[in-house]
Amino acid sequence: MLNRLSARLTLALTVILAVTCGAWLALTLFATRLYQEEVDQSLNSPLAHYIAKAYPLISDGLVNRDSLTGLFDQLMVINPRIEVYLLDLEGNILAFSAEPGRVKREQIDLQPVRSWIAGSETLPLRGDDPRDPGGRKPFSAAEVYDGERHAGYLYVVLEGEEYESAAGLLASSYILRLAIGTGAIGVLVAIGAGILSFAWLTRRLRRLSEAVEAFRKADFETPVNLANWRRGGDEIDRLGVAVEEMSQRIADQIEQLRRADATRRDMVANISHDLRTPLASLQGYLETLSMKQDSFSEAQKSRYLDLAVRQGDRLARLIAELFELAMLDSTVTPPNFEAFSLGELVQDVAQKFRPDAERKRLHLETEIPETAPFVRADIGLIERVLENLIENAIKYTPEGGSVRLSLAVGTDGIEMRVADTGQGIDADDRERIFERFYRAEKSRGEGPDGTGLGLAITQRILQLHDCPIRVESVLGKGTAFTFRLPLAQS
Ligand SMILES: Nc1ncnc2c1ncn2[C@@H]1O[C@H](COP(=O)(O)OP(=O)(O)OP(=O)(O)O)[C@@H](O)[C@H]1O
Ligand SMILES: [Mg+2]
Repeated sequence: MLNRLSARLTLALTVILAVTCGAWLALTLFATRLYQEEVDQSLNSPLAHYIAKAYPLISDGLVNRDSLTGLFDQLMVINPRIEVYLLDLEGNILAFSAEPGRVKREQIDLQPVRSWIAGSETLPLRGDDPRDPGGRKPFSAAEVYDGERHAGYLYVVLEGEEYESAAGLLASSYILRLAIGTGAIGVLVAIGAGILSFAWLTRRLRRLSEAVEAFRKADFETPVNLANWRRGGDEIDRLGVAVEEMSQRIADQIEQLRRADATRRDMVANISHDLRTPLASLQGYLETLSMKQDSFSEAQKSRYLDLAVRQGDRLARLIAELFELAMLDSTVTPPNFEAFSLGELVQDVAQKFRPDAERKRLHLETEIPETAPFVRADIGLIERVLENLIENAIKYTPEGGSVRLSLAVGTDGIEMRVADTGQGIDADDRERIFERFYRAEKSRGEGPDGTGLGLAITQRILQLHDCPIRVESVLGKGTAFTFRLPLAQS
């Protein structure tokens, strides 16, 4: 229960109220008592003086017993709360009106008595209580004269034994009880209001902490969703919005990490597989060659060497392409955008592939408008795209076919198209050829050499340029790849 914020706040409020009320009660009782003493003392201040004047208490150096008895009897009738003591000049008690066994002192300190008579002190003024060896009480006093001679003091203790304790005081005062009762009800009402308002104020915090707890339990995967949470309200509202955004971010990142991890695992599996195949062949050829050195003819030896070199090339190419993809994936080297003539670039690349095309007796044609505006892209990367597409077109088109490179200028860009009259790609493969290491059924086994990374690199480069690549293909008729680069001035 106490691990709830509202409960703690209520407890704190209760403690504060209890301490405040306790202090207030103590102060009230203390002040009431003092006030009562002050009123009592000031009302009764002339009492001792009147008595001393009215009764000859000491005559001829002796205590006047008759006069004393008369006085005590009269006092018992008029006000039994008053006790009268007759003192000599040293403060020794000569006679008193209280019951004999109850008086515990023999002498009264005269210092406050003299101050009282001088009238210089503020009230209430206390003097020794004869009934209590350590106690002090408000009093009234007057000098007692034996004829003209100052013979002693009359010491009147007010208030008797009543109101000694706070409870006694309380029991005696209806007003005080009423005030304290009202105060107590007020405190209870305040605590009740505190409980309600704390519960109301901490409601949103509770909701927030429940949401965060749920987020934690769900392994940080389903982000916190505080429906209808007010934006831009108080601190709690702002906290809620921030928590929502933060959890969304965390969930996204965890998802991203998971995906990256899966991709990485796939990659590693693919790479090790694809590295192992050419490496195993290479090793196989070299081992055979070294074992059969003596029995092999020159022609056989050179055939095995050729095969080994081809596998070595394949390995080198694979590693180079993997490296290229890794570079494209990393954000270390962003594309370097510049304006250039796509037509000229296409001419250059086509020129490079002419010998390959001639070797396969293919027509390599280009269709480039005389005046084409510049495009804006990374020239080196676009050269790689063209190389990959033209290389594929040549590779997957049988002898006698043709490869056509054409540029079409549009309002917002130039469309580049690489079309061939080759074997084509069937619909299922078409969806997957851009995946890393994917090669269509026909291309595997007996078909031309390749690693299946060329189109992945191509697509990644065009992605960095925000340009999608399209493929159209008819099985046995041919294939065309198209993409559009933005114009330099738009
Ligand atoms: N012009 C094309 N005609 C027919 N099939 C094609 C053509 N271009 C690509 N393909 C198919 O798509 C697959 C993937 O091509 P990609 O360029 O990525 O790999 P690759 O050419 O096999 O190897 P490399 O990484 O050496 O380029 C190829 O194996 C091939 O099956
Ligand atoms: Mg290729």
